This record gives sequence, structure tokens and C-alpha cells, in this order.
Amino acid sequence: MGSSSKNLFEKFSNDSLIVKGQRQALEPGFIPERLPHREKEAELLAEILSPSLKNYKPSNVIIFGKPGVGKTSVVKFVESEISKAMQSRLDSKIKLIDINCGVVDNPYGVLLAVGDGLLESWEEKLPFTGWPLDKLYNTVLEKVKNFAGITIVVLDEIDKLVKKSGDSVLYQLLRINEVTNEGRVCLLGISNDLRFTEYLDPRVKSRLIEETMVYNPYNASQIYDILRDRSLYAGIADSIDESAMKTCAALAAQEHGDARRAIDMLRIAVELTEKGNSKRIEDNTIYEAKNKLERDVVVETVSTLPLHSKLVLFSISLIDEIKNGGSSNMGEFYDLYERIADRMGISGLTQRRVADIIGELTNLGLIDSKVQSFGRYGRTTTATLNYSSSRMKDIVLSDEVLGQLKDVKPLQKSLPVS
Ligand SMILES: Nc1ncnc2c1ncn2[C@@H]1O[C@H](COP(=O)(O)OP(=O)(O)OP(=O)(O)O)[C@@H](O)[C@H]1O
Ligand SMILES: [Mg+2]
Repeated sequence: MGSSSKNLFEKFSNDSLIVKGQRQALEPGFIPERLPHREKEAELLAEILSPSLKNYKPSNVIIFGKPGVGKTSVVKFVESEISKAMQSRLDSKIKLIDINCGVVDNPYGVLLAVGDGLLESWEEKLPFTGWPLDKLYNTVLEKVKNFAGITIVVLDEIDKLVKKSGDSVLYQLLRINEVTNEGRVCLLGISNDLRFTEYLDPRVKSRLIEETMVYNPYNASQIYDILRDRSLYAGIADSIDESAMKTCAALAAQEHGDARRAIDMLRIAVELTEKGNSKRIEDNTIYEAKNKLERDVVVETVSTLPLHSKLVLFSISLIDEIKNGGSSNMGEFYDLYERIADRMGISGLTQRRVADIIGELTNLGLIDSKVQSFGRYGRTTTATLNYSSSRMKDIVLSDEVLGQLKDVKPLQKSLPVS
């Protein structure tokens, strides 16, 4: 080979944009030490929780805010500050217990987590399952009393717990303060759904919501600051074009001011830049990252849908395609859906069930739908695809079973399956 030929390993030996150890600063689990534009929120929460350092029960708090606006981050930050403050105050007795209700969404799990959080190191753990709830509750109550301090229970994504299992366990935890003076429990709930309090019993609501904080979405310039700070942590601040950082911030601000999305976009832009063997992150890489992120989310969402939901989505996509982007009504997509199901040898669901599926697809953001009323002539549901029909079709057809539908084409008027 001539001397100009490249070494086989050359493309792998390029210095990457990010030094290995710093890459984690862009990963989802990273907890930054600084939270730009949330200093006031952190301070206010610290103020609310500060009585605990003097062994008084703080007010119960609920923090609301859209996804990615820093709720969990602020709480984690304040928790770590409490732990530090406790070290210099020997008289304070605080236990911080974190529960992610996205994972632990039933009364047993919640009580167990509180009980385990209060375990003295030499004690045996409580049984993972099997005890009657009242026995578990009484054990937790004893532990709260024995601890005789302030037990702060953080219920992240508390709305999921309430939607899944109701508010009975919240009532039990809140009642502890009414049945004993020996130890106190303070609840801190975090939710991105403002409406979840509608599901609460008035007795729970009035006790739980003593303080409320609402975190607003970040605007573009705030997200810009967050991204700049994060890129300093990651050691890539000098490799990003100023305009690329601004674009990234602006795009995330358009979508309910979500810092998580901005950081995800930046991480993917770094990956794309490295793959392209480039050293600088530019505007177009950010757009590419945005597309990839959306694609990933849509693929993930669609691929986990049940079969019939995929078929309904596929029907809407086909009609969208022949109409060149337009909505279809129940008559149209239901008819096509039935034919496709028939062709696959499965029986189609009723219109009523398909209407439910339309609701689910709408909630997932894959389509928009409207119920139109024609007075005494009845009502019909119309659906519009939120993504390009060719992309949506490709995703649905990538399913092993549905791949056989590749050649299905609706005809213009009657939309029969070819
Ligand atoms: N002010 C900030 N400064 C630095 N990073 C931030 C800030 N706010 C949010 N982030 C980052 O954005 C991401 C999302 O933040 P966080 O998890 O706190 O959001 P959240 O409000 O709890 O969202 P969700 O409702 O989805 O749980 C995290 O990676 C976090 O580090
Ligand atoms: Mg959170």
C-alpha cells in the first residue's frame, strides 16, 4: 500500500471532544453542584424546611412544575445541604427518605420505604411483601416514635402514586403527627401534574398542602445559562459555537422550557460531532440532534404500543399520505383499520374501542384529535398525524408482524386495501 493510505485505526484514535471522566456531566443522572436560576427556589425550600434543624416539624410542601424544570434537582440539592448542616448541629435529628413514586406506587411500597429508611443499622429489614398493611403501618409508627426526630419523606412524582393507588397511604403518614408527639413526619411532594390534587380527599388535601411552590418553565436565556454551565462541567464549552448553544436553548424553550431536553440535545450533538470526526459543535448539529431525539422518542413510543393501536395509527398514516397531510375522520380510518385487521386474519375492535385508542394516541402526542358534533346528525372523531406519515409508516412497519403490511395502499375514494 502506498504511503498515503490511512492506518486502519486512525479513525478510532481521534481525540474525542470530551475527556472521558467529564462525559457524565451530560448524562441524565448527573447532579450538578450549581443550579442556575433556581437559587431562589432552593433558598425558599431551605427556609420552609429549616425548622427541622431545631427539631420542629416543617410545613408539608408540594412542588409543582412541568417536566425538566428542576424540581427533583432542587430538592436533592436542598437535601444534601440539610445533611451538611446537620453535621455541625449535634442537636438536630433529621431523617431524609426519598421515594420515587414512579417506581413505588402502592401503599405497601411507600410504608416499607419509610420503615426501611428509619431502620437502625443492626435491625433486620422489613419484609418485602406479605405483611397486612396495618401491621406495617404500626411498625412504621413505632419507628417514627423511636427515632424521635423529624422524618422528612420526599415523594417524587407523587401524582403517580395517587393516580395508581389513591391517597390512603398519604392519609396514614399525615395522621402519624396526630397520634404521637414523640416523632414528627413531614411530607414533601413533587408533581408535574397540577391537577392531581383534585383526586385528594379534602382531609388529605388540607393537611398535605400547607405550602405550595410552582416552578415556572425556563426561558431561552435561562436555558442558555444552564447549558453554558453544564458544558463547563463537561469541558466542552470551547468546542461549541455560540450560535449553536443559543439554538439549543431556543429549541428547548419552545418546548415548555425543559432543561432536560436541552441537555439531551447537547449530549446527542456531542455524539454526532464525534461520529462525524469533527471538533466543533455547530448549529446544524443541534438541529440534527433535535431530529434524532424526536425520532428516538417516537420510535420508542410507537414500538411499545399494543397491536391494535399500531394498526389504527397505521391507518391514519396511510390516509394522511394520500391526502398529502390532512385529517381523517372515524369513518375513514375505522374502515381502513377493519380491512387491515381482516387481511391479517384478526378481528377488529369496535368503534368505541378504537375511539379509546384515538384518545390514548392523542395523550401520547402522536396524533391530534377532535370530536366534531353535527347536532342531531351525531358526532365524529377526526385525527391528524403529528409526524410525517412516511416516518410513522416506517416505524410501524419495522414491527416484525406488521412488516407484512408493506404493500398495503388505500385507494383514493373508498380507501380499500389493495
Ligand atoms: N437550574 C438548573 N441548573 C442546572 N441543571 C438543571 C437545572 N434545572 C434542571 N437541570 C437539569 O435538567 C434535568 C432535569 O431536571 P429535573 O430532573 O430536576 O427536572 P424535574 O422538574 O424533576 O422534571 P420531571 O418533572 O420530569 O421529574 C436534570 O439533568 C437537571 O440536572
Ligand atoms: Mg423530577
